[in-house]
Amino acid sequence: MQTIAIDNITQAVIDHGDGGKTHPRLYEIYTSLVNHLHTFVREVNLTELELQQGRDFLNRASRHTQVIPDGEIQVLTDLLGISMLVELLQDSNGGVTEANLQGPLYVPNAPQRKLGERIGVDPEGEALFLSGRVLDVNGQAIANALIEVWQPNSKGLYDTIDPSQPAGNFRGQLYTDENGNYSFETVVPSGYDIPNDGPCGEVLRLLGRHTWRAAHIHFKLSATGYSPLTTQIFIDGTPLLDSDTTFTVRSTIIKLQKHESTDAEAQQQSQPFFTAEFDFVLKPIEAAIAPLDIENAATVA
Ligand SMILES: [Fe+2]
Repeated sequence: MQTIAIDNITQAVIDHGDGGKTHPRLYEIYTSLVNHLHTFVREVNLTELELQQGRDFLNRASRHTQVIPDGEIQVLTDLLGISMLVELLQDSNGGVTEANLQGPLYVPNAPQRKLGERIGVDPEGEALFLSGRVLDVNGQAIANALIEVWQPNSKGLYDTIDPSQPAGNFRGQLYTDENGNYSFETVVPSGYDIPNDGPCGEVLRLLGRHTWRAAHIHFKLSATGYSPLTTQIFIDGTPLLDSDTTFTVRSTIIKLQKHESTDAEAQQQSQPFFTAEFDFVLKPIEAAIAPLDIENAATVA
């Protein structure tokens, strides 16, 4: 019998099971996690008090709150850059629009919008006319692609958090026309401070980290025969592009063109407004690989 010691406890934990016979992938993840966690505990020489503080943190982070109904575990993975790292590892790109995190504020079945329609009410917001095309990797238009869009208003508030906004404000579903074109009117969104009065916010403050996101607009695209795309677009020249607290700023950045009062009059706008263009590129769903036909293969051989 081998008694437990500092130099065998890690392997003892890993060996305490069927070695991955029941679930090889889970065993692979579990083994690596145990190894890394034990290395981490050794490296920082974790004390009992610090371990208890860590347990308390995770207990509190998993509790449901009014602001974050699912608890802060997803926020925690975002703030640690883990959500984005997983996204980056899975994003093959290859000429396709860069994917990004969906975030916790997506709501399915948003209001249906016509092309060109304004998607939200915000008297203080600066109008933004966003347009572009949905294309395949060869530059061919994808007609009838579904575009779901959601964003905060000019104060950085989503309708689901701000009771002064009507439900569905700055959310919408629209379809591209036969030439793959889309367009809608919105307002220039502001960045926002993520909810930070819970355990994650407490730790970030102790680390001297801010909790702000750069201004962005969320999109989900889907079209028959193409892989769905979830992404975010950012706005050139706005603050925090290089320090977004969720580490999500990629090269999906639009440039706003400002149109002054004379243009506004021509467009029947009461104020100067902005325009921007962004084309989305989707990749085709890869053809399914036919399963091996062992019977036939044996006959041919
Ligand atoms: Fe967002």
